[in-house]
Amino acid sequence: MTGSISALILSWYRINKRRLSFRDTGDPYHVLVSEFMLQQTRAETAEAYFERFIDRFPDLRSLADSPLEDVLKAWEGLGYYSRARSLHRTAEIIRDEYGGRVPNTYGSLLSLPGVGPYSAAAIASIAFGVRVPAMDGNLYRVFARLYDENGCVDQDMVKRRLYSLALSDMPEDRSGDFNQAMMDLGAAVCVPGTPDCAACPLSSVCRAFIAGHPERLPVRTKKKPPVQKDYAVVILRHQGRTCLFKRSEKMLNSLYVFLLIPLPEGTGIGEALDKTDSFLLSRVPAKPAFYLDSAKHVFTHQVWNMTLILAECTEDTWAGPEQYVWTDTEGLAALPMPGAMKAAREKAVQLLSSPPEGGIINRRSLSVNLMAENTTGSTVG
Ligand code: ADE
Repeated sequence: MTGSISALILSWYRINKRRLSFRDTGDPYHVLVSEFMLQQTRAETAEAYFERFIDRFPDLRSLADSPLEDVLKAWEGLGYYSRARSLHRTAEIIRDEYGGRVPNTYGSLLSLPGVGPYSAAAIASIAFGVRVPAMDGNLYRVFARLYDENGCVDQDMVKRRLYSLALSDMPEDRSGDFNQAMMDLGAAVCVPGTPDCAACPLSSVCRAFIAGHPERLPVRTKKKPPVQKDYAVVILRHQGRTCLFKRSEKMLNSLYVFLLIPLPEGTGIGEALDKTDSFLLSRVPAKPAFYLDSAKHVFTHQVWNMTLILAECTEDTWAGPEQYVWTDTEGLAALPMPGAMKAAREKAVQLLSSPPEGGIINRRSLSVNLMAENTTGSTVG
Protein backbone atom coordinates (compact mmCIF):
# COMPACT_ATOMS: atom_id res chain seq x y z
CA MET A 1 0.00 0.00 0.00
CA THR A 2 2.87 2.41 0.88
CA GLY A 3 4.29 2.65 -2.61
CA SER A 4 0.91 3.00 -4.17
CA ILE A 5 -0.41 5.89 -2.05
CA SER A 6 2.63 8.08 -2.68
CA ALA A 7 2.80 7.11 -6.38
CA LEU A 8 -0.93 7.79 -6.88
CA ILE A 9 -0.96 11.12 -5.07
CA LEU A 10 2.24 12.38 -6.69
CA SER A 11 1.08 11.60 -10.21
CA TRP A 12 -2.28 13.27 -9.44
CA TYR A 13 -0.35 16.29 -8.10
CA ARG A 14 1.72 16.61 -11.27
CA ILE A 15 -1.47 17.44 -13.17
CA ASN A 16 -3.71 18.97 -10.49
CA LYS A 17 -1.25 20.98 -8.44
CA ARG A 18 -2.54 24.44 -7.58
CA ARG A 19 -0.33 27.02 -9.26
CA LEU A 20 0.44 29.30 -6.35
CA SER A 21 3.10 31.99 -6.44
CA PHE A 22 4.69 30.90 -3.19
CA ARG A 23 5.36 27.46 -4.64
CA ASP A 24 8.20 26.66 -7.02
CA THR A 25 10.46 28.93 -5.06
CA GLY A 26 13.55 27.33 -3.69
CA ASP A 27 13.98 30.20 -1.27
CA PRO A 28 13.49 29.05 2.36
CA TYR A 29 12.62 32.63 3.38
CA HIS A 30 9.68 32.57 0.94
CA VAL A 31 8.57 29.22 2.33
CA LEU A 32 8.84 30.56 5.89
CA VAL A 33 6.72 33.64 5.11
CA SER A 34 4.11 31.68 3.15
CA GLU A 35 3.75 29.02 5.84
CA PHE A 36 3.14 31.69 8.49
CA MET A 37 0.43 33.15 6.26
CA LEU A 38 -1.07 29.75 5.51
CA GLN A 39 -1.50 28.84 9.18
CA GLN A 40 -4.98 30.37 9.23
CA THR A 41 -5.61 31.54 5.70
CA ARG A 42 -6.66 29.77 2.51
CA ALA A 43 -3.91 29.43 -0.09
CA GLU A 44 -5.75 31.47 -2.74
CA THR A 45 -6.29 34.35 -0.29
CA ALA A 46 -2.74 34.23 1.04
CA GLU A 47 -1.23 34.45 -2.44
CA ALA A 48 -1.85 38.17 -3.01
CA TYR A 49 -0.67 39.06 0.49
CA PHE A 50 2.44 36.94 -0.01
CA GLU A 51 3.40 38.79 -3.20
CA ARG A 52 2.92 42.19 -1.59
CA PHE A 53 4.79 41.12 1.52
CA ILE A 54 7.79 39.89 -0.45
CA ASP A 55 7.83 43.12 -2.48
CA ARG A 56 7.88 45.06 0.78
CA PHE A 57 10.34 42.74 2.63
CA PRO A 58 12.34 40.97 -0.11
CA ASP A 59 14.68 39.08 2.20
CA LEU A 60 14.95 37.96 5.78
CA ARG A 61 17.18 40.82 6.84
CA SER A 62 14.81 43.49 5.50
CA LEU A 63 12.02 41.90 7.54
CA ALA A 64 14.11 41.53 10.70
CA ASP A 65 15.39 45.12 10.47
CA SER A 66 11.94 46.71 9.95
CA PRO A 67 9.80 48.08 12.79
CA LEU A 68 7.01 45.75 13.90
CA GLU A 69 4.44 48.41 12.98
CA ASP A 70 5.47 48.16 9.30
CA VAL A 71 5.09 44.39 9.40
CA LEU A 72 1.64 44.68 10.99
CA LYS A 73 0.65 47.15 8.27
CA ALA A 74 1.73 44.70 5.54
CA TRP A 75 -0.27 42.01 7.34
CA GLU A 76 -3.43 44.13 7.52
CA GLY A 77 -6.46 42.22 6.26
CA LEU A 78 -4.98 38.78 6.90
CA GLY A 79 -6.08 38.71 10.55
CA TYR A 80 -4.55 36.60 13.33
CA TYR A 81 -1.93 39.27 13.91
CA SER A 82 0.01 37.21 16.44
CA ARG A 83 1.39 35.45 13.34
CA ALA A 84 2.89 38.73 12.10
CA ARG A 85 4.42 39.48 15.49
CA SER A 86 5.87 35.96 15.70
CA LEU A 87 7.16 36.08 12.12
CA HIS A 88 8.94 39.35 12.87
CA ARG A 89 10.47 37.92 16.07
CA THR A 90 11.43 34.74 14.20
CA ALA A 91 13.20 36.81 11.53
CA GLU A 92 15.14 38.65 14.26
CA ILE A 93 16.20 35.33 15.82
CA ILE A 94 17.27 33.89 12.45
CA ARG A 95 19.26 37.07 11.75
CA ASP A 96 20.93 37.04 15.19
CA GLU A 97 21.38 33.33 15.89
CA TYR A 98 21.45 31.58 12.51
CA GLY A 99 23.46 34.07 10.46
CA GLY A 100 20.34 35.04 8.51
CA ARG A 101 19.72 31.53 7.12
CA VAL A 102 16.45 29.75 7.85
CA PRO A 103 17.35 26.67 9.95
CA ASN A 104 16.96 23.40 8.08
CA THR A 105 15.88 20.88 10.69
CA TYR A 106 12.43 20.15 12.07
CA GLY A 107 13.65 20.62 15.68
CA SER A 108 15.33 23.98 15.13
CA LEU A 109 12.31 25.29 13.19
CA LEU A 110 10.01 24.14 15.99
CA SER A 111 11.95 26.25 18.50
CA LEU A 112 11.10 29.48 16.65
CA PRO A 113 8.21 31.71 17.82
CA GLY A 114 4.94 30.98 16.04
CA VAL A 115 6.25 27.76 14.45
CA GLY A 116 4.27 24.77 15.66
CA PRO A 117 4.62 21.12 14.61
CA TYR A 118 2.56 21.68 11.46
CA SER A 119 4.50 24.72 10.19
CA ALA A 120 7.87 23.22 11.18
CA ALA A 121 7.02 20.11 9.15
CA ALA A 122 5.74 22.12 6.19
CA ILE A 123 8.84 24.36 6.09
CA ALA A 124 11.29 21.50 6.70
CA SER A 125 9.76 19.31 4.00
CA ILE A 126 9.10 22.01 1.37
CA ALA A 127 12.30 24.04 1.80
CA PHE A 128 14.74 21.28 2.80
CA GLY A 129 13.19 17.94 1.78
CA VAL A 130 12.99 16.65 5.37
CA ARG A 131 10.75 13.58 5.56
CA VAL A 132 8.08 14.67 8.02
CA PRO A 133 4.30 14.87 7.45
CA ALA A 134 2.69 18.31 7.85
CA MET A 135 -0.44 17.34 9.75
CA ASP A 136 -3.08 20.05 9.77
CA GLY A 137 -6.87 19.64 9.81
CA ASN A 138 -6.85 18.78 6.09
CA LEU A 139 -4.27 16.02 6.42
CA TYR A 140 -5.91 14.54 9.51
CA ARG A 141 -9.16 14.36 7.54
CA VAL A 142 -7.51 12.76 4.50
CA PHE A 143 -5.66 10.15 6.55
CA ALA A 144 -8.65 9.47 8.84
CA ARG A 145 -10.58 8.54 5.70
CA LEU A 146 -7.74 6.68 4.02
CA TYR A 147 -7.41 4.44 7.10
CA ASP A 148 -11.05 4.52 8.22
CA GLU A 149 -10.03 5.97 11.56
CA ASN A 150 -13.15 6.14 13.72
CA GLY A 151 -11.47 7.62 16.81
CA CYS A 152 -11.82 11.34 17.49
CA VAL A 153 -9.10 13.24 15.63
CA ASP A 154 -8.96 15.82 18.42
CA GLN A 155 -7.40 13.20 20.70
CA ASP A 156 -3.61 13.03 20.89
CA MET A 157 -3.52 9.26 20.62
CA VAL A 158 -5.52 9.30 17.38
CA LYS A 159 -3.38 12.13 16.03
CA ARG A 160 -0.21 10.16 16.77
CA ARG A 161 -1.66 7.12 14.99
CA LEU A 162 -2.52 9.14 11.90
CA TYR A 163 0.88 10.84 11.95
CA SER A 164 2.62 7.43 11.91
CA LEU A 165 0.46 6.25 9.04
CA ALA A 166 1.18 9.43 7.08
CA LEU A 167 4.91 9.04 7.73
CA SER A 168 4.83 5.44 6.54
CA ASP A 169 3.20 6.61 3.30
CA MET A 170 5.76 9.35 2.62
CA PRO A 171 8.25 8.69 -0.17
CA GLU A 172 12.00 8.83 0.53
CA ASP A 173 12.30 11.99 -1.49
CA ARG A 174 9.79 14.65 -2.65
CA SER A 175 8.52 15.10 0.93
CA GLY A 176 7.45 18.67 0.21
CA ASP A 177 5.49 17.61 -2.86
CA PHE A 178 3.86 14.77 -0.93
CA ASN A 179 2.70 17.15 1.84
CA GLN A 180 1.49 19.76 -0.61
CA ALA A 181 -0.25 17.15 -2.75
CA MET A 182 -2.15 15.95 0.32
CA MET A 183 -2.99 19.57 1.20
CA ASP A 184 -4.37 20.15 -2.31
CA LEU A 185 -6.34 16.92 -2.19
CA GLY A 186 -7.83 17.98 1.18
CA ALA A 187 -8.68 21.44 -0.17
CA ALA A 188 -10.26 20.37 -3.47
CA VAL A 189 -11.37 16.73 -3.32
CA CYS A 190 -11.30 15.18 0.13
CA VAL A 191 -13.25 18.13 1.53
CA PRO A 192 -15.19 18.22 4.83
CA GLY A 193 -18.75 16.95 4.56
CA THR A 194 -19.23 15.23 1.24
CA PRO A 195 -15.94 14.45 -0.50
CA ASP A 196 -15.67 14.19 -4.27
CA CYS A 197 -14.61 10.53 -4.27
CA ALA A 198 -15.24 10.18 -8.01
CA ALA A 199 -12.39 12.63 -8.60
CA CYS A 200 -10.08 11.16 -5.97
CA PRO A 201 -6.87 9.43 -7.07
CA LEU A 202 -6.83 7.48 -3.80
CA SER A 203 -10.37 6.08 -3.79
CA SER A 204 -9.11 2.60 -4.74
CA VAL A 205 -7.02 2.48 -1.55
CA CYS A 206 -9.30 4.54 0.72
CA ARG A 207 -10.74 2.35 3.45
CA ALA A 208 -13.56 4.75 4.34
CA PHE A 209 -14.60 4.92 0.68
CA ILE A 210 -14.47 1.14 0.37
CA ALA A 211 -16.54 0.87 3.59
CA GLY A 212 -19.04 3.31 2.06
CA HIS A 213 -18.93 6.13 4.62
CA PRO A 214 -16.16 8.68 3.88
CA GLU A 215 -18.53 11.59 4.68
CA ARG A 216 -18.83 10.36 8.28
CA LEU A 217 -15.14 10.99 8.93
CA PRO A 218 -13.26 12.48 10.60
CA VAL A 219 -14.92 12.22 14.02
CA ARG A 220 -14.48 15.51 15.87
CA THR A 221 -15.52 16.99 19.21
CA LYS A 222 -18.20 19.65 19.02
CA LYS A 223 -16.82 23.18 18.94
CA LYS A 224 -17.86 25.60 21.67
CA PRO A 225 -19.91 28.50 20.30
CA PRO A 226 -17.93 31.76 20.09
CA VAL A 227 -18.20 34.22 22.98
CA GLN A 228 -20.36 37.27 22.20
CA LYS A 229 -18.74 40.61 23.13
CA ASP A 230 -20.52 43.93 22.83
CA TYR A 231 -18.60 47.17 22.37
CA ALA A 232 -19.31 50.81 21.81
CA VAL A 233 -16.80 51.78 19.12
CA VAL A 234 -16.41 55.50 19.51
CA ILE A 235 -15.08 57.73 16.78
CA LEU A 236 -13.83 60.76 18.65
CA ARG A 237 -13.73 63.68 16.27
CA HIS A 238 -12.01 67.01 16.64
CA GLN A 239 -11.39 69.33 13.71
CA GLY A 240 -10.71 66.77 11.01
CA ARG A 241 -8.88 64.32 13.26
CA THR A 242 -9.84 61.26 15.24
CA CYS A 243 -8.30 59.50 18.19
CA LEU A 244 -6.85 56.00 17.86
CA PHE A 245 -5.57 53.80 20.63
CA LYS A 246 -2.66 51.36 20.37
CA ARG A 247 -3.71 48.11 21.98
CA SER A 248 -1.65 46.68 24.80
CA GLU A 249 -3.94 43.64 25.27
CA LYS A 250 -2.79 40.24 24.02
CA MET A 251 -5.58 40.12 21.45
CA LEU A 252 -4.79 42.47 18.54
CA ASN A 253 -1.70 43.66 20.38
CA SER A 254 0.03 46.76 18.92
CA LEU A 255 -2.79 47.41 16.46
CA TYR A 256 -4.70 50.68 16.44
CA VAL A 257 -8.40 50.79 17.25
CA PHE A 258 -11.01 53.44 17.94
CA LEU A 259 -12.09 53.86 21.53
CA LEU A 260 -13.65 50.55 22.59
CA ILE A 261 -16.00 50.60 25.55
CA PRO A 262 -17.07 47.10 26.68
CA LEU A 263 -20.84 46.80 27.11
CA PRO A 264 -22.99 44.08 28.68
CA GLU A 265 -24.30 41.60 26.09
CA GLY A 266 -27.45 42.84 24.35
CA THR A 267 -27.00 46.52 25.28
CA GLY A 268 -29.34 48.74 23.24
CA ILE A 269 -28.38 51.90 21.36
CA GLY A 270 -29.71 54.39 23.92
CA GLU A 271 -27.86 52.68 26.73
CA ALA A 272 -24.67 52.46 24.65
CA LEU A 273 -24.88 56.23 24.11
CA ASP A 274 -25.41 56.88 27.82
CA LYS A 275 -22.48 54.65 28.72
CA THR A 276 -20.30 56.43 26.16
CA ASP A 277 -21.23 59.86 27.55
CA SER A 278 -20.41 58.85 31.10
CA PHE A 279 -17.21 57.09 30.03
CA LEU A 280 -16.01 60.21 28.22
CA LEU A 281 -16.97 62.60 31.01
CA SER A 282 -13.61 62.62 32.81
CA ARG A 283 -11.48 61.81 29.76
CA VAL A 284 -12.24 64.25 26.96
CA PRO A 285 -14.61 67.21 26.68
CA ALA A 286 -17.27 66.16 24.17
CA LYS A 287 -20.83 66.86 23.09
CA PRO A 288 -23.39 64.11 23.68
CA ALA A 289 -22.58 60.98 21.70
CA PHE A 290 -24.39 60.12 18.49
CA TYR A 291 -25.33 56.75 17.01
CA LEU A 292 -23.90 56.00 13.55
CA ASP A 293 -24.38 52.36 12.75
CA SER A 294 -24.00 48.80 13.98
CA ALA A 295 -21.43 46.24 12.84
CA LYS A 296 -20.35 42.71 13.62
CA HIS A 297 -16.96 41.02 13.35
CA VAL A 298 -16.50 37.29 13.73
CA PHE A 299 -13.20 36.03 15.15
CA THR A 300 -12.49 32.34 15.70
CA HIS A 301 -13.55 32.31 19.35
CA GLN A 302 -15.34 35.64 19.69
CA VAL A 303 -17.97 37.71 17.96
CA TRP A 304 -17.80 41.46 18.41
CA ASN A 305 -21.19 43.19 18.24
CA MET A 306 -20.33 46.83 17.77
CA THR A 307 -22.36 49.98 18.15
CA LEU A 308 -20.55 52.66 16.14
CA ILE A 309 -20.78 56.01 17.84
CA LEU A 310 -19.58 59.50 17.06
CA ALA A 311 -18.46 61.84 19.81
CA GLU A 312 -17.70 65.40 18.77
CA CYS A 313 -14.88 66.55 21.01
CA THR A 314 -14.31 70.15 21.87
CA GLU A 315 -10.60 69.51 22.59
CA ASP A 316 -8.10 67.00 21.24
CA THR A 317 -6.99 65.84 24.65
CA TRP A 318 -7.24 62.42 26.25
CA ALA A 319 -6.93 61.83 29.97
CA GLY A 320 -5.96 58.24 30.46
CA PRO A 321 -3.02 55.90 30.59
CA GLU A 322 -3.64 54.51 27.09
CA GLN A 323 -1.25 55.09 24.19
CA TYR A 324 -3.24 57.24 21.81
CA VAL A 325 -2.78 59.36 18.73
CA TRP A 326 -5.00 62.00 17.12
CA THR A 327 -4.81 61.38 13.43
CA ASP A 328 -6.27 62.53 10.11
CA THR A 329 -7.44 60.41 7.15
CA GLU A 330 -3.83 59.83 6.05
CA GLY A 331 -3.02 58.35 9.43
CA LEU A 332 -6.16 56.22 9.26
CA ALA A 333 -4.81 54.71 6.05
CA ALA A 334 -1.24 54.33 7.28
CA LEU A 335 -1.60 52.89 10.78
CA PRO A 336 -2.16 49.14 11.15
CA MET A 337 -5.76 48.46 12.18
CA PRO A 338 -7.57 45.14 12.57
CA GLY A 339 -10.36 44.00 10.26
CA ALA A 340 -12.82 44.45 13.13
CA MET A 341 -12.38 48.23 12.71
CA LYS A 342 -13.16 48.22 8.97
CA ALA A 343 -16.73 49.56 9.25
CA ALA A 344 -15.73 52.17 11.82
CA ARG A 345 -12.73 53.23 9.77
CA GLU A 346 -14.91 53.74 6.69
CA LYS A 347 -17.30 55.85 8.76
CA ALA A 348 -14.41 57.83 10.21
CA VAL A 349 -12.99 58.58 6.76
CA GLN A 350 -16.40 59.95 5.69
CA LEU A 351 -16.76 61.93 8.90
CA LEU A 352 -13.29 63.44 8.77
CA SER A 353 -13.81 64.49 5.19
CA SER A 354 -17.05 66.34 6.05
CA PRO A 355 -17.23 69.47 8.21
CA PRO A 356 -18.14 68.99 11.88
CA GLU A 357 -21.12 71.37 11.64
CA GLY A 358 -24.51 70.08 10.55
CA GLY A 359 -26.48 69.90 13.75
CA ILE A 360 -26.30 66.16 14.17
CA ILE A 361 -24.45 66.12 17.42
CA ASN A 362 -27.10 66.09 20.07
CA ARG A 363 -29.30 63.49 21.56
CA ARG A 364 -32.55 65.21 20.64
CA SER A 365 -31.76 64.87 16.94
CA LEU A 366 -31.15 61.15 17.35
CA SER A 367 -34.68 59.90 16.76
CA VAL A 368 -35.16 62.24 13.83
CA ASN A 369 -31.93 61.12 12.18
CA LEU A 370 -32.54 57.49 12.89
CA MET A 371 -35.95 57.72 11.28
CA ALA A 372 -34.41 59.40 8.29
CA GLU A 373 -31.79 56.70 8.13
CA ASN A 374 -34.35 53.92 8.38
CA THR A 375 -36.40 55.29 5.55
CA THR A 376 -33.61 56.35 3.21
CA GLY A 377 -30.95 53.82 4.11
CA SER A 378 -28.38 56.60 4.20
CA THR A 379 -25.90 57.00 7.00
CA VAL A 380 -25.64 59.88 9.37
CA GLY A 381 -22.73 62.30 9.31
N1 ADE B 1 -1.43 25.18 3.48
C1 ADE B 1 -0.32 25.27 4.22
N2 ADE B 1 0.79 25.19 3.50
C2 ADE B 1 0.38 25.07 2.23
C3 ADE B 1 1.04 24.95 1.01
N3 ADE B 1 2.36 24.96 0.97
N4 ADE B 1 0.31 24.82 -0.09
C4 ADE B 1 -1.04 24.83 -0.01
N5 ADE B 1 -1.72 24.94 1.11
C5 ADE B 1 -1.03 25.06 2.22
